[in-house]
Amino acid sequence: MAIDKLGLEFTASLPETADAFNAAMDDYMLFAGEPVGLLLETAEVDPDFAMGYCFTGCLRLFGGVGPTHPRVSLELRAARARRGRVLPREQAHIDAFDTAATGEFSKAGRMWDDILQEYPYDMMAAKCAHESYFLVGEAWRLQKSAQDILPKWSDNMPYYGYLLGMGAFGLEEVGEYAEAEKMGRRAVEIEPRDGWAVHAVAHVMQMQGRCDENIEWLESTVDDWRDAVWLSGHLWWHLCLPLLEKEQFDRVFDIYDARMATCDEDMVTRLMDCTSMLWRLEEFGLDVGDRWEPLADKWLRHADEHAIAFTDAHFAMTMAASDRQRTLRRFNQSQHAYVEGEASTNGEIIGRIGKSLCEGVGAYRDEEFDTAADKIGPVIGDTWRIGGSNAQRDVFRLTLTNALLKAGRHAEACDFLEPLVAEGATPNLMRELAMAYDGLGRDADAEALRAEVVSGLN
Ligand SMILES: [Fe+2]
Repeated sequence: MAIDKLGLEFTASLPETADAFNAAMDDYMLFAGEPVGLLLETAEVDPDFAMGYCFTGCLRLFGGVGPTHPRVSLELRAARARRGRVLPREQAHIDAFDTAATGEFSKAGRMWDDILQEYPYDMMAAKCAHESYFLVGEAWRLQKSAQDILPKWSDNMPYYGYLLGMGAFGLEEVGEYAEAEKMGRRAVEIEPRDGWAVHAVAHVMQMQGRCDENIEWLESTVDDWRDAVWLSGHLWWHLCLPLLEKEQFDRVFDIYDARMATCDEDMVTRLMDCTSMLWRLEEFGLDVGDRWEPLADKWLRHADEHAIAFTDAHFAMTMAASDRQRTLRRFNQSQHAYVEGEASTNGEIIGRIGKSLCEGVGAYRDEEFDTAADKIGPVIGDTWRIGGSNAQRDVFRLTLTNALLKAGRHAEACDFLEPLVAEGATPNLMRELAMAYDGLGRDADAEALRAEVVSGLN
């Protein structure tokens, strides 16, 4: 037996396995290092280390590869093979991993939450629940999962600051911005290198349209998260969002080229950031040059994974934007076959929402704006199901808005945008609504909105 940093027992036959597990967990908290490599090396020499395979398989799933990825299947088999000789808590982890690997992320999240009921200090269960709910957009569960265990922790425990960071992100995603910011800032005070907490605060500022503060926040913390290889690309993406709103496009291109486009082809979540940023830049009317090409090449190996609907939509966006029609057709067929043969919740979400989004972004790039609006419009209210954050999914709102505007459906664009502006007026939303007003001949309203944008940004 071995004992982890938080005092939980797990099965291992070698004394050094506990060190490796703790080191991998440290890396995971920091989004740094090579936790998968470290755990696999350890599991290869420690035949009882079932948690190692559980951990690596889950990290792959949360990194954005699909449940059918050969490495996930291999690690699931290895964990299952050891199930009979490990503790009940470890068995529960293996079962939850097994469930996640069938595309039932919500159910898996609840299984990890069940582990937390009995073992509230099980940080691996807390992180796994957090990540699986994120994959299916269940913000309220994500929020509750961390909040439920926080009162059982104390601030002198290892990873307490990181748990606060998770709690902050959950609060942000359910719209509790003030509480989220407070908790996120507290987390960063305790552990400045907690990039996830920095990220939670950046999300709050993004959702509240606090462009200057957001830029300042991310720039002032960059030295603490620069080396978080598994997250830094996403934080650079976050920095680009307010820069876009302030129309500082040269800086966005510099960050894209130096910090984002350099990601590895296996870092699916980072590929999505790249796709989303190039797409947004083009929606601002900018020429992104030949940047789609190398990005599309990196995406190719993920064509048949169908990890989650959010990933699929970004794959489709990339292929459509790089004019790879044949690949896009093959992808659509592969997605169709996946949906037909898949009884999981993930299959249902891809079939019901993801497919329309993929068809919609394809039509949009083909300048079939009516079709794009008719595909995306009916599912836009359900996109929370496809995974990702509110800020990330905003790219579909942007695409739908522009499809409506370009199709000349200004009244519909107005109906769509006005409640969003009333809820939280960001410069981009106001600019888009002004364009809708232009189309309706409401010149004074459009001018007033544009003046508000200018005064808000100065
Ligand atoms: Fe984010």
